Order: sequence, then structure tokens, then C-alpha cells
Amino acid sequence: MCGIFGVIGSREVSPLIIDGLRKLEYRGYDSAGLATIQKSNNKKFGELFTRKSKGKLINLSNLIKEKPIQGHLGIGHTRWATHGKPNEKNAHPHVDFTGQIAVVQNGIIENYRDLSKSLQPKGITLISETDTEVVPHLIGLEIENFLDKGHSDNGQILLSAVQKVLSLLEGTYSLAVIWSKAPDALVVARRQAPLVIGFGEGEFFCASDTPALVGFTRTFLPLKDHEVALLTPLGIELYDASGTRQHRAPSLLKGTELFADKRNFRHFMLKEIYEQPETAQLWIDRYLPSDSSSVNSFISPITKSTIDKIEQIQILACGTSRHAAMVGAYLLEQFAGVPTNVHFASEFRYSPPPVSPNTLTIGVSQSGETADTLAAIRMEKDRRDSINDPNFSFHQLGITNRLDSSLAREIDNVIDIGSGIEIGVAATKTFLGQMLSFYGLTLLFASHKQKRSTQEILNLSNDLRLIPKQLLDLIKKHDEFSKEIAHMFVDTKDVIFLGRGINYPIALEGALKLKEISYIHAQGYPAGELKHGPIALLDQNVPVLSIAVPGLVYEKVLSNSQEAKARDARLIGVAPSGPESEMFDHLFAIPQVSEWVSPLLTVVPLQLFSYHIAAHKGFDVDQPRNLAKIVTVE
Ligand code: F6R
Repeated sequence: MCGIFGVIGSREVSPLIIDGLRKLEYRGYDSAGLATIQKSNNKKFGELFTRKSKGKLINLSNLIKEKPIQGHLGIGHTRWATHGKPNEKNAHPHVDFTGQIAVVQNGIIENYRDLSKSLQPKGITLISETDTEVVPHLIGLEIENFLDKGHSDNGQILLSAVQKVLSLLEGTYSLAVIWSKAPDALVVARRQAPLVIGFGEGEFFCASDTPALVGFTRTFLPLKDHEVALLTPLGIELYDASGTRQHRAPSLLKGTELFADKRNFRHFMLKEIYEQPETAQLWIDRYLPSDSSSVNSFISPITKSTIDKIEQIQILACGTSRHAAMVGAYLLEQFAGVPTNVHFASEFRYSPPPVSPNTLTIGVSQSGETADTLAAIRMEKDRRDSINDPNFSFHQLGITNRLDSSLAREIDNVIDIGSGIEIGVAATKTFLGQMLSFYGLTLLFASHKQKRSTQEILNLSNDLRLIPKQLLDLIKKHDEFSKEIAHMFVDTKDVIFLGRGINYPIALEGALKLKEISYIHAQGYPAGELKHGPIALLDQNVPVLSIAVPGLVYEKVLSNSQEAKARDARLIGVAPSGPESEMFDHLFAIPQVSEWVSPLLTVVPLQLFSYHIAAHKGFDVDQPRNLAKIVTVE
């Protein structure tokens, strides 16, 4: 949530910051701002300039064209509002009472109310409604103290003042600070919200995420929690929380080059839907190569001895990742025979189940930065570490699309879903990648625990290998069909999605996609629940979308769909074509596949259906209102 980008060097920074922020806009896009420091003639001091605007980054970019600001040092921010409405006043950067210090922040300063009260006796009143604004004021006061004591290196003064103020802040945040009297210093800090430093040629960058560095540098250093860094045009100084200097080698960016290339697609979301066959093929080439006859060919980061110990699995995730986890839990329990629970990470934090022995905890997060998921995993680690019993040790596994994320850094064993960067805020190809990872884990557990015959395991592997081609055909077919029928649903207010068994999470995911991007109210239910309440909603104005795949619950879903039809609901089916499918008013025909692998296919028509309705309504599909791609606040 919120994107930070800063530069210090020898070039004009405003266009660089706008460029960096553009690649971070997926993190928040309700307002944006930037501040620069333009050096005075004696080069010792400078002057602070700020520009802010409500709405998307394009508004800020236009404002800067109209009213340019200069300087070789600057910080920028794209916001997802937490405290205070998205308007110009609340947009970052926030400036202190002297008008010389500017701060951009991501995260939440939880004790900002107390801190703002402490400023009142000093005659400082806040202009904005944000939690951030206390920070520049506190830094301003600390700087005054240092100046009174006769310190003279302004870069070091800024660093020390920030370090002092950080000790007062509670919450999770990353921030970047500049001061007009230190025109060669940019100070950055991190506490549980991501921040990386980029190493350019004669210039340094700070950014909330590595893709923002693409085009500037490939060399970067992620800050660790509680670290603070001073960036100057000559180099960086890195310190831990105790103020001890740290030395770490930077890393090289991998695989983010394709960032922000929409190719010929109208939206990133559509492009990402089309990339799913490739996501699946890459996953199969990597984890389930066809030349392998071994049923154990899923390459796992967990050792056999750990698998042998595991008696149950708990999965922590949010949103779409949780839906992938639910498909995973179904597979792990029903195919591999391992008891598995899925938790909302945000709920688990405050109501965890009693600690169970020999449990594998899996965190699923495409971004690897979701605050709730990270906090739930940390909490689980702490409570297990506090029990001095090897049976209760913390066995951990992460499933993520970002190997450079906090999740990947904090968890020892990680499955890289390798979907390539996803820009559309509504997750599509990463959902597929997450589900595939669970298929891999299922094969692994089923074979190690000998819960399935070799033939059953081979059948599932072979069915998975057919998925890329089936996806390709399905996307081509249903892109056109969804476009054709989308106009019939643009005025719809509510849609019910039904699924059962392994396709119940797909009903939830279909409903989530529709809500997110088309703002149509949609609810997913296990089909059997329809008669226990939701059926009261049905009439000719409430369409029902049913996912009916031949297998264990096929007939049941068809009967539940008939019950909806009898209440005049328009029926949309995601099912193989045949006599049974004639009941549907609109049919997204899918191939006849084993029920086990069906979620990998049934989700695709739902993604396309939501996409085309939203596109037809003229909505900003890639950046839906009120949402952000990375949710780094609780
Ligand atoms: C929906 C969506 C969100 C995320 C959720 C968790 O399209 O993208 O529901 O799935 O915010 O995000 P990650 O997977 O990054 O932890």
C-alpha cells in the first residue's frame, strides 16, 4: 500500500520520480506527490519544493509539466489512503513546521494521536488528517536540538534526527526523508514495510518495490527491519536499530524486465489472463517434466524427513490467495489424505487455534508483502518457538510470486510460483500459479505418505500436463463469448456464484473478481447452501452462475441450479457441453476433464466474464477503485 520512490544524484529528479512512481502505482493510486530540493548558489543549502495532486499519477505528472520543480534530490509517493480522505491536503510528502523537511511514508504510525498531542505544547498543529504528518514535525524538533548543540554536518544531523524519531514511532512503516539544509542527503528507514535501495551510476534510489528500479539500475539492496540508511551522491551508510554500521552486498534484479509492457492488450488484466497457458507450461517444465517417469518428480523445498513428520497442515492467506489455498486444502485432504485447514490470516492473528503438534504452516501470498499474512506467520513462529518441544516446532513453507519479498526472506522453504510480474490489481495468473503449487504439494504428500496408488498419482500428473493446451483453447474461445454476453449483465446489481467440492473456492474467486473490477455485488456459495437462505434473493434480476463439472457433485450442482431456474434466475453454466447443460441460458463450455484438475480451467471463464463486464462499463480494470495490489497495512 502506497509507493515510495526517491532519488539522489546529479540529474533532474522530477521526471525520474514520476517514472519510478508509475511502476509503483499498483500499490495505491488515490493521490500522489513529490518533493525536491534545489540547491542554492553556494550549494551548501537548498530550497524545498512540493507538488501534490488528488487522483492518479497522471494528474501529478500534468501538474509538474505546468509548474515544474527542479533539484537533484527528491522523494515521491503514490497513496492508498488509510488515515484521511484521498485529497491534496492528505497526499504525501508531508512537510514540517519549518517548511524545510519532507517525508513520504508507507504503512501506519499507530501512536500518531499521542505523538500529535505531544506537539501541541510546542505550538505545532497538524494540517492534514494523516498519521504521517507527525513524523516531519518530530524530525524538525530533533534537528533543532542537534543544531543547538553545535553539530555541523547536516547529512549526519538528519540521519541522527531520524534515528531518534524512529524510536518514538509505533506501527509498521517505511519512510524517506529530505531536508533542504542537507541537499546531499536522503534518509530512509524500514519497519515491516518493504523498502529497497537501488545503486545507479553516481546516483542512488529508494523504492517500495524492485520493479520501480527497472530502467535505472539492476543492483539493489533490500533494507531489513529496523534498518536506517543515509544515501548521498557518493554512497550509502547503513545502520541497524542500535546504530551499528552494517555492510551487505547488494543483489541483482532478475526477471522484472517485462514490467509494464501491455503488449497489444487493452489492459494488463486481459494480458495476464492470456499468459496463463505459459504460466502453466513453465510450472510443468520446472516441477513436473514430462520426461520424468517418477511420481516424485515434483521438486519440493521440504525434505522427505519433514514430510514424514507432518500430520496436519494449516494455511494462512488473504483474498484470492486464500481461495487458491482452499483448492489446495481440498486436494491435500481429499487426494493426499492430510488434514488441512485454511485461515484468513487477518483472523488467525487474533484467534489462532490451539497449537497442534507436527503441523506444517504454509503462508500464501503472491506479493509476499501482505501485512496480515506476514504477521500471522510471525506470530505462529513465535508461539511455536516459545514451546520447548520438538513436536511443536515451526515447519514452514511459503508460496509466492516474489522471491525478493519479505515472505521469501523470512520463510526458509519457498515455492516460487514463477508467474512473472502481475500488474493488474485483480489477481489472475498468480492464482493459477498458486493452485499449481498446491497440486505439486499434493502429489508430493500423496506419494510420500502412500495415500494414493502409483497409477492415481500418474493420472493426476498426466492430467496436469494437458492443462496448458486446454487453457489456451479455453481462453481463445471464451474471450470472444464473454465479450458477446457482457453487455447483457452491465446493469445487473447482484450475481450468485455456485460451486461445490473442489470448485466451491472457484465460485468464491469468481464472485471476488466480479466485485473487484465491475463493482457488481456478487456472492459465492457452496451450491448446497442456496436453499438455506440465499435462494430468497433470486428472481429474474439475479443471475446465477453454476460451476458444474462431472464427478462427485455434478448431479448435485445441476439440481441446485434447477432450483435457481425455478425461481426465474438467469442461469450461466461453466460445464461441459451436453444434454445436461441445456438448462443453462448461457454456457461457458469446458472440456471433459477429471474433477481433480478442473479448478485450473473453470476459473478462466469467470475471469474473462468479470473482465469484459468491467471493460464494457468503461471501468479502470487494472486499477479498480479503493484497491491496491499490495496490502502492507493491517
Ligand atoms: C484479488 C486480490 C487480493 C489478494 C489479497 C492477498 O484479486 O488480488 O484479494 O489476493 O490482497 O494478496 P497477496 O496474495 O499478495 O498476499
